[in-house]
Amino acid sequence: MAGASPKNSEGLFEKRGGFVKLKTKVGWFFFICILDICLFGAVVKLVSEAYPREISTLSQVYKVKEDRKEGEGKCVALTFDDGPHRECTPKLLDGLKERGVHATFFLMGQNIEGNENIIKRMKEEGHLIGNHGYSHVQMTKADPAKAKEAVEKTSQMIEKITGEKPEYLRPPYGDWNGKLEEELDMELTPVFWSVDSLDWKLRNKDRIVRRVLKETQDGSMILMHDIFPTSVSAALELVDQLTKEGYSFVTADELMID
Ligand code: NI
Repeated sequence: MAGASPKNSEGLFEKRGGFVKLKTKVGWFFFICILDICLFGAVVKLVSEAYPREISTLSQVYKVKEDRKEGEGKCVALTFDDGPHRECTPKLLDGLKERGVHATFFLMGQNIEGNENIIKRMKEEGHLIGNHGYSHVQMTKADPAKAKEAVEKTSQMIEKITGEKPEYLRPPYGDWNGKLEEELDMELTPVFWSVDSLDWKLRNKDRIVRRVLKETQDGSMILMHDIFPTSVSAALELVDQLTKEGYSFVTADELMID
């Protein structure tokens, strides 16, 4: 096909008549495309940094504790971090109550004030309440004394409402190590997860449900966040689907690391 291309082309800035316009438009089109891609990337980065994010590489394999009676069938624990949330958590509690299901809530100290009634309700309705720190900081990177103070403050806030000190801690991002455990020197048992719903990222009921169903097995510790409406609707849909599959629901204290 030699000779088919224009002989006096000067790239996007063709000088000849109407051709100039067309080529310049093509140039602008690509320029705007590239700008859009950059903007989209920046927005995605901002959104993903603005929301809580758990480091799934630190997930563990969980199983049902030995002392659970045999023949009770498959079971899983639904766990919710970062709440309580004024609107989402009560909706979740309504749905769990309707279905007779108990879950585990790891509360963030900074979200407790003003939501005391929601926490009272969790306790009254048989859910397990744990500690998720005061604010969402990576504890291995924080000053140990400050990290300890923040966790203790949260435990005290919870105890004031429920009358019981929490026994379990879910470190934000699952960020934990032996050194931190020694430094904190507390009687809290760290709880991680084996199935990460990625609900904070997916924000789509069907996608969250699909992902969790694919990964769930007997003894799974499922990580979710009761601060997004899509997480609440996904969690209730999961309860219905997993019940049909023969699962029952336990609280995090009934599972252990395998
Ligand atoms: Ni969290």
